Amino acid sequence: MGLPLVLGTFTIIFLGLYYSYQKLRFKLPPGPRAWPVVGNLYDIKPVRFRCYAEWAQRYGPIMSVWFGSTLNVVVSNSELAKQVLKEKDQQLADRHRSRSAAKFSREGQDLIWADYGPHYVKVRKVCTLELFTPKRLESLRPIREDEVTAMVESIYIECTTPENKEKSLVVKKHIGAVAFNNITRLAFGKRFVNADGVMDEQGLEFKAIVANGLKLGASLAMAEHIPWLRWMFPLEEEAFAKHGAHRDRLTREIMDEHTLVRQKSSGAAKHHFVDALLTLQDKYDLSEDTIIGLLWDMITAGMDTTAITVEWGMAELIKNPRVQEKAQEELDRVIGFDRVMTELDFPNLPYLQCVAKETMRLHPPTPLMLPHRANSNVKIGGYDIPKGSNVHVNVWAIARDPAIWKDPLVFRPERFMEEDVDMKGHDFRLLPFGAGRRVCPGAQLGINLVTSMLGHLLHHFSWAPPNGLKPEEIDMTENPGLVTYMRNPLQAFPTPRLPAHLYKRVPVDV
Ligand code: HEM
Repeated sequence: MGLPLVLGTFTIIFLGLYYSYQKLRFKLPPGPRAWPVVGNLYDIKPVRFRCYAEWAQRYGPIMSVWFGSTLNVVVSNSELAKQVLKEKDQQLADRHRSRSAAKFSREGQDLIWADYGPHYVKVRKVCTLELFTPKRLESLRPIREDEVTAMVESIYIECTTPENKEKSLVVKKHIGAVAFNNITRLAFGKRFVNADGVMDEQGLEFKAIVANGLKLGASLAMAEHIPWLRWMFPLEEEAFAKHGAHRDRLTREIMDEHTLVRQKSSGAAKHHFVDALLTLQDKYDLSEDTIIGLLWDMITAGMDTTAITVEWGMAELIKNPRVQEKAQEELDRVIGFDRVMTELDFPNLPYLQCVAKETMRLHPPTPLMLPHRANSNVKIGGYDIPKGSNVHVNVWAIARDPAIWKDPLVFRPERFMEEDVDMKGHDFRLLPFGAGRRVCPGAQLGINLVTSMLGHLLHHFSWAPPNGLKPEEIDMTENPGLVTYMRNPLQAFPTPRLPAHLYKRVPVDV
């Protein structure tokens, strides 16, 4: 009894002194009162970006929030976002790695979790000059179009099956499949699911690895922020090692398959990321850890983000029948009724593009982006951000700020017809992909896929709420988490609106 009490008292006094020292030494941004040991951890409501937006009303657009003994600074207006992501970008471009992220990324050997430095600059160059070039994006377009037509077919089959008459369907099931197949094909050159929807063994392994990674990552959340408490949550070293080994074995197996195919076809490389990275390994001096890390970064960052955005977009379109009809009117006029849309039609579909943009404004899938970390002492908005603090930009709150948006809560794509606002990091009012050095490298790919999915869903079907529900009753609450799913997956009732022969998947082998 005696020793824990003494230790506990000592720690509380030490942390009290630490907070006071930080306050005296630095001019920290204001914020809610921090408790000893836990800081503000127990005051933060589960949907963090909403909680921070509420607090910003009280404490202002730059705030201190303490996760245990770690200072987190949250900025919530576009002027401060510009300071963080443009003016002080280089000093704020490190990443905070949780213990699980550190393990998965082998201490930042990948891109997402790498600190800003020579390794990051090299890997980022590989992304910009090799992986996400317009040419590669175009060469992978057939994959996206194959998957989007597969989605249309699966919805058509489900809603025209006689026993499903009058039944609504779960939208996420269909859009999630596009996101999954698209990303595994793009990164690994593999469609793990056959034409009948059955997943092969490698695919099942792959899914298990993704699910296990999420579980391991979440299991440490509490101990993460209070380092001296970690002894109570022993790091599941063995589970991490097993997980890492499983992931590496499957990835190596796939890499070997690709190397074999390349050797057989005398070096002619395909366009998938795995082939690109293996072919470029020597040129850029990439370790195997980096190649594996990069491939999994694409899965982590590129799969759920697109599916989540489309689900929110469909919820808004069902809530706002006027917008749905206007987008369909444009599709009917431009595409007609005897062919399906392709990405080449985008330039002729300005309203559809505005629908995608308005969706990302109101529902950015990563509302606090990914946290950045200060690699030196920095001043933002007149306050000190000490080295080692984390900085979050509440892009959700900025995109709903009444000081810069007219009727910010209304879903009105026309606003972007009236004023063209960039969303790829050049206009600090709209930042679904972040901005600056760490801006999302997959932004254009994400925009293309989201626009294409929304376009196909609207051209092929009319959408209504499930029986008995009024459009305004659709539940728009968010699930807590780094990426923001709808808390209750959207259910909807589709009615086909094109000739039956246009609902067939057009498979391609790229
Ligand atoms: C709607 C779709 C998407 C949205 C809204 C989105 C958003 C974001 C955001 C906000 C960040 C953090 C930026 C920062 O830290 O400042 C990010 C990073 C990243 N995204 Fe995306 N993303 C999307 C799709 C994709 C896709 C399709 C891929 C790849 C296939 C991808 C790959 C990445 C990577 C690798 C990073 C880490 C960049 C770095 O740390 O330097 N994203 N994304």
